[in-house]
Amino acid sequence: MLGVRDLHKSFGDNQVLKGIDFEINKGEVVAVIGASGSGKTTFLRCISFLEKADKGEYIFDDLDKDITKISRKEIKALRMKMGFVFQNFNLFRNMTAIKNVTEGLTVVRKMPKEEAEKKALVLLEKVGMLEHAYKYPDELSGGQQQRVAIARALANDPEIVMFDEPTSALDPELIGEVLNVMTKLAKEGTTMIVVTHEMSFAADVASKVIFMEGGKIVEQGPPEQVLKNPTEESTKRFLRRILEHDD
Ligand SMILES: Nc1ncnc2c1ncn2[C@@H]1O[C@H](COP(=O)(O)OP(=O)(O)O)[C@@H](O)[C@H]1O
Ligand SMILES: [Mg+2]
Repeated sequence: MLGVRDLHKSFGDNQVLKGIDFEINKGEVVAVIGASGSGKTTFLRCISFLEKADKGEYIFDDLDKDITKISRKEIKALRMKMGFVFQNFNLFRNMTAIKNVTEGLTVVRKMPKEEAEKKALVLLEKVGMLEHAYKYPDELSGGQQQRVAIARALANDPEIVMFDEPTSALDPELIGEVLNVMTKLAKEGTTMIVVTHEMSFAADVASKVIFMEGGKIVEQGPPEQVLKNPTEESTKRFLRRILEHDD
């Protein structure tokens, strides 16, 4: 459904992505793991055109093109098929939860306000936030804000949802409620790419785990393989480090 071949990206002379080959099929959940600075965010940003890649082939459904030759119009259409959830929620602070969800629908899609609100309420219920629909972000916990952000990401009926460390900014006791919502989405067949340090989520929910290091995919496969029986020394080292942190 979405894929890249030999994806490259540099910032100045800092080569951040050094030839990434990646593929995700409809209904799959891919977990991307790796140390800070390994290029995970840049990878997500390049495949969603928030950042301009330098080189690579890009595949999305029937489109198969040099990533640097994709037109603005094509990018706009592609981005309409994607939802995003960021580490820091990025909600509009001056808008209620429901307004955060309806805004894209009414402004970008020109959906009538009532229809958008109906849809937003369904989504807020799905993420367990119906009773807080009319609260502002400041009145909500981090976990609640992130669940609103997930509802917002789903508003456009995206074909794929990208999560960039969605629980990294949360207090430990709030992580579970967000992971539960994500697990539910995965079970419903939502196609998801999730950059995460939550190894149990990756182990239980992901159909594929990708380990990145130094701008490359070092190892990938089903979670049983990558997380339980990694073949690469650097994957083993990374997992050991993560496990020590969890204790
Ligand atoms: N906008 C940017 N401008 C310059 N360098 C950047 C930018 N974004 C990321 N980088 C650099 O790219 C490298 C990888 O960063 P990033 O993709 O954020 O890694 P990760 O998400 O795995 O922590 C880092 O060296 C970082 O400093
Ligand atoms: Mg990152």
